[in-house]
Amino acid sequence: MSEKKVILSGIQPSGSPTLGSYLGALKNWALMAEEYECFYSIVDMHAITARQDPAELRKTPFLQLALLIACGIDPEKSTIFIQSHVPAHAQLSWVLNCYTMYGELSRMTQFKDKSSKNADNINAGLFTYPALQAADILLYQADYVPVGADQKQHIELTRDIAVRFNGIYGDVFKLPEPYIPKVGARIMDLQNPTNKMSKSEIADGGCVLIMDTPEDIKRSFKRAVTDSETSVRYDIENKPGVSNLISIYSVCTGKTFDDIEREFDGKGYGDLKANVGEAVVELLRPIRERATTLLADKAYLETVFKNGAEKASYTANKTLRKVYKKIGFVV
Ligand code: TYM
Repeated sequence: MSEKKVILSGIQPSGSPTLGSYLGALKNWALMAEEYECFYSIVDMHAITARQDPAELRKTPFLQLALLIACGIDPEKSTIFIQSHVPAHAQLSWVLNCYTMYGELSRMTQFKDKSSKNADNINAGLFTYPALQAADILLYQADYVPVGADQKQHIELTRDIAVRFNGIYGDVFKLPEPYIPKVGARIMDLQNPTNKMSKSEIADGGCVLIMDTPEDIKRSFKRAVTDSETSVRYDIENKPGVSNLISIYSVCTGKTFDDIEREFDGKGYGDLKANVGEAVVELLRPIRERATTLLADKAYLETVFKNGAEKASYTANKTLRKVYKKIGFVV
């Protein structure tokens, strides 16, 4: 039995991930892959809580797998799999639905946010989404869940569900902790810096994708919204645009906010935008290039998914069986 602590995280397959997903989560996935036993899931079952184009949904997991490998995650060491390939996720999710309260789900900010933006498709899956996410995590007895700040509430609910379940049946689930980076946990939209950078805002040009070309990335930063002052200073309340640029620059370069303020002392926003754009281009360039090469070898990527599903199923089915026994199912 492995002594290593266990990591589980997931990403929805909806085209290229954003710069926000990369800086808030994927970058840490790669860093953690060496030290921990990691399970990384491409969560297609979560994705269908919003309408998806089937052709895109079929393609994106391959792009995401190529990107994860390109970010430095070795599929020989970490388990990368597609959620729907491991039926235990759907199976445990149903059980956990019966231990999750309506009131708890109603309080989820992501549900409130997504249902207000998609009033014509407030489906039951969107509402019970956090119970599926809890199943994703608890199946692997994960110690840590590397995510951006927007997922913190879902991890807290996962813990509440696990505590409730353990309280009735004994120690079945390990209680997971969110792992949220100090800087980069909430990358904001470049055009509306009080909104999280997200695909749903893509039309305004404020969302940068990992697969964007260097020219597009530089253009997006050049057009980034700032404020009417001139000083490069971190002040999230009064200068959300500039503060977002400082955060992005800090995660890309490893420089502290103080270093950055000094670097741009006496310079204008134009310099800041150009330098941040350049830093992002250089950070993403090798990842994009490597991913493009990997994408050409679909047979290899299919093998990774097949092996990943087998390894993930082994661990997941052990937990599922324990749960079924505890609740009194005939196994
Ligand atoms: P998703 O697919 O929306 O995002 C993937 C990861 O990227 C992080 N992220 C961000 N971080 C910083 N700034 C941003 N602007 C930004 N946008 C996205 C997210 O926090 C996330 O870590 N429900 C999850 C997927 C999921 C999951 C799980 C995660 C399903 N099951 C189990 C952890 C554990 C989601 O929709 O992430």
